[in-house]
Amino acid sequence: MEGLHISNHPLICHKVALLRDIQTEPKKFRELIREIAILLAYEATSDLGLSPVTVTTPMGQADGATLAEKIGLVPILRAGLGMVEGIWEMMPGAEVWHLGVYRDEKTLRPVQYYNKLPVAPTVQVCLVLDPMLATGGSAVACIDILKRWGARRIKFVGIIAAPEGVKTLHEAHPDVPIHMAVLDSNLNEIGYIVPGLGDAGDRQFGTG
Ligand code: PRP
Ligand code: URA
Repeated sequence: MEGLHISNHPLICHKVALLRDIQTEPKKFRELIREIAILLAYEATSDLGLSPVTVTTPMGQADGATLAEKIGLVPILRAGLGMVEGIWEMMPGAEVWHLGVYRDEKTLRPVQYYNKLPVAPTVQVCLVLDPMLATGGSAVACIDILKRWGARRIKFVGIIAAPEGVKTLHEAHPDVPIHMAVLDSNLNEIGYIVPGLGDAGDRQFGTG
């Protein structure tokens, strides 16, 4: 599907296998989320715009480039939080804007409970961060909010997707590229990704 990018990078594949493992404890789980997020963001930002600069080295002048666009990292609380820090280290000039959305356990519909966006957009590119794309409801709800806010260029960066979530997100926002580590088989009857990794929020925060 156009717009869907599944990483085949060996480092990501290796780390996702460790992440899924039921034996992986929260500390290691958080480390892996952080590391996978950095690698995925590296791939997802390969088309960012650059402006030319000239820098003075100890030996003379060099042609260089600097990021032309202001980046906003938009983690979907809670589980998206774990993807922020590592990516932020790679792009310390980014702004971080939090959106709180959880899935109602019975209806699986997204419920928004927190929005810290400023009145007007302050960034040119938004990276929406959430490790899990299950029904796609949470991602669509957040991207709806960002577009109403005025965001023009949005990318979704996640770790594990279900086909149902990819379809829903792509149909709602065909202009939003979806960068994932892996595309899984299906959703089960209670809306969990199979084989997935269980509950990404609970496994990060030790609340399962
Ligand atoms: C999880 C996950 C996504 C959402 C994905 O969050 O982090 O935000 O589910 O499911 P969807 O694609 O069907 O909307 P959850 O609702 O468990 O909240 P939490 O991160 O606070 O635990
Ligand atoms: N949210 C999760 O954390 N895991 C799933 O499998 C689906 C939604």
